[in-house]
Amino acid sequence: MSEAGSPTYESNVFFAQDEMERRSKSTLVRRGADIHRELEEIDYRNPVSVIDPSLGFQSRTLRCFVNRVAPAREQERSEGWKERKGAGGGTHLGHRHTVEAVIYFLQGKGYSVVNGVRYDWKAGDFICIPVFAWHRHVNTGDEPTVHLAVVSVPFHKAIGLSVFEDEQYPEQWIFASPESFSGESLVPGAADTGVADEEWQGNSLASEVYRREVEFAVAEEAERQHSEVLVRGEDLDFQPTPLGGETAYVVHPDLGFNARVLATYVQRLRQGEASARHRHMYEEAVYVLQGSGHSRIGDQEVTWGPGDVLFVPPLTWHEHHAGDEARLLTHTNYPLTRNIGLSITQHG
Ligand SMILES: [Fe+2]
Ligand SMILES: [Fe+2]
Repeated sequence: MSEAGSPTYESNVFFAQDEMERRSKSTLVRRGADIHRELEEIDYRNPVSVIDPSLGFQSRTLRCFVNRVAPAREQERSEGWKERKGAGGGTHLGHRHTVEAVIYFLQGKGYSVVNGVRYDWKAGDFICIPVFAWHRHVNTGDEPTVHLAVVSVPFHKAIGLSVFEDEQYPEQWIFASPESFSGESLVPGAADTGVADEEWQGNSLASEVYRREVEFAVAEEAERQHSEVLVRGEDLDFQPTPLGGETAYVVHPDLGFNARVLATYVQRLRQGEASARHRHMYEEAVYVLQGSGHSRIGDQEVTWGPGDVLFVPPLTWHEHHAGDEARLLTHTNYPLTRNIGLSITQHG
């Protein structure tokens, strides 16, 4: 910082190595036993943080947490539930957010209503929530459901665009209005661009560039509404790749998902098998679904077992060694790095 307190040019030059230093000191693992213990201690309304900058992880985009949903009978006893279900018994709204979210159901069964469409799920399935889609999760079993969620809150907060609108806090809404309780559009005024036809000045290039800008939101929203949502665990298609073992991509922009920030895959390693050593610009949260083993992350070695979660900071060489047959669920911000032109993956 200069004497006046404004950033110096040198602070830009020094940032990268300083960030490397911060990455090398990042927390790398969250133990499943600790997550479970904390889950037992807090009430339903609060998630347990798994990967988050506040826990010492050098994550700039990803936040992971584990949360539960009470059986519907218990929800129905809670104040306001009947009214919130809406006329006709539909379970719309819930909440929505500008951040991306991918949910993996660890335990239980139920359904989610996403943009008014019901998706039934059980443990082992995934739900990818499109940006700003109203959604609600309902537990149809007798026991609490448990899910692991990854969201892009740290990134969206950094750019000032993290918006959560919840049916319980309509006074906090900034896009929807309490008068239009079923409003489903992120775009105020929806398809109305606010520009009258005669205002488009001829066919000038500048006018066309501006037209694309003002029309983007509506087109993007239409695309989002066709995004894939549900992926069933039994439909995962494991295929060999140079990364080692077999990989099933779950959420990915190349697979019909309107995913601009987050991607998800599951890797299967046989007993004694190792993944290829690689590094990339994106950060990674790796949840151990099954098996035990160890990983090399940078110059550290981390052992893992079922329920543990590893964090791989950007540009950090890493490889996973399976002691017995393992399944690793990995969330990344690969699409984000691609969208800003900074996706580099180096293999071997
Ligand atoms: Fe959500
Ligand atoms: Fe990786």
